[in-house]
Amino acid sequence: MAAIRDEPTSSIGSMGSVVESIAREAGEIALSHLQSLASVSVENKGHLDLVTKADREVEAFLIAALRRAFPNDGVYGEEGANVAGSSGRVWVIDPIDGTFNFVRGGQDWAVSIGSYEDRRPDFGAIYAPMRNLMLVGGKHVETRLNGEPMPSLPKLDLSRASVGIGLHPSVATEDRLEVLRYISDELRIGFRCCGAATLSLIAVATGETDGYLALGDSTWDVMAGLPILGNLGISHTINWDHIDLRAKLRFACGSEELLAKVRPLLKTVGNKMMNGAGHG
Ligand code: IPD
Ligand code: CA
Ligand code: CA
Repeated sequence: MAAIRDEPTSSIGSMGSVVESIAREAGEIALSHLQSLASVSVENKGHLDLVTKADREVEAFLIAALRRAFPNDGVYGEEGANVAGSSGRVWVIDPIDGTFNFVRGGQDWAVSIGSYEDRRPDFGAIYAPMRNLMLVGGKHVETRLNGEPMPSLPKLDLSRASVGIGLHPSVATEDRLEVLRYISDELRIGFRCCGAATLSLIAVATGETDGYLALGDSTWDVMAGLPILGNLGISHTINWDHIDLRAKLRFACGSEELLAKVRPLLKTVGNKMMNGAGHG
């Protein structure tokens, strides 16, 4: 991230804390809606794909706050944000990741703010208010959970391994079933599905799962999480040279050892990436 690379470490650290406090404030706005959930209007964007007034309000807050803090940067977000910048850096945001859980009064939802520069994610902050989890990190910024550096992750042990999965409702049932079959029959490991990509990525960071496998996630779902995980030795299969911010992703992340085991699956169900399916 050029703006960060050229700045002294203290500026990099301060960018991290600025973004962290924006994420925290955004989470508080979402929380205030959660307290009056019965009156929050819910619309269907697609089959099992919801959006609420809270998503739109949090996104509007994030655009304003990020533009105020970083006036030369662009902002791109799930609910339509598409502000051009001049710095080359774009903040890719998901105001509420896990809206379905949010609408049902669940705990697994989070605000996600990721930095994208030179066609790569390079820094992010994820805040899950109901879980009291703030995960921040990326290039030049140490990964920290609630302000604390994270311990190194255990080596893959197939006798007790599991992966998080995210299978978007728009993905063909045969592909979703193939993911479950492959995990169960070929890898013979467990899987977890919480309905929020960000929380699934946090679970990888904390060592609760060994990786995450997703069909149909968007760039804003993973823009913050992947650079945070990169610092912990977690790789992924996304070739950022071949996709743009509107892409729908089919990918896995985890240790290189896990990815080697998952790649045959992605050869069959992973080559159907759809560019241009997002907004503007
Ligand atoms: C969704 C969640 C879900 C993932 C979907 C995403 P949203 O985000 O992260 O876990 O499987 O692909 O679209 O719609 O709740 O922001
Ligand atoms: Ca999302
Ligand atoms: Ca969302």
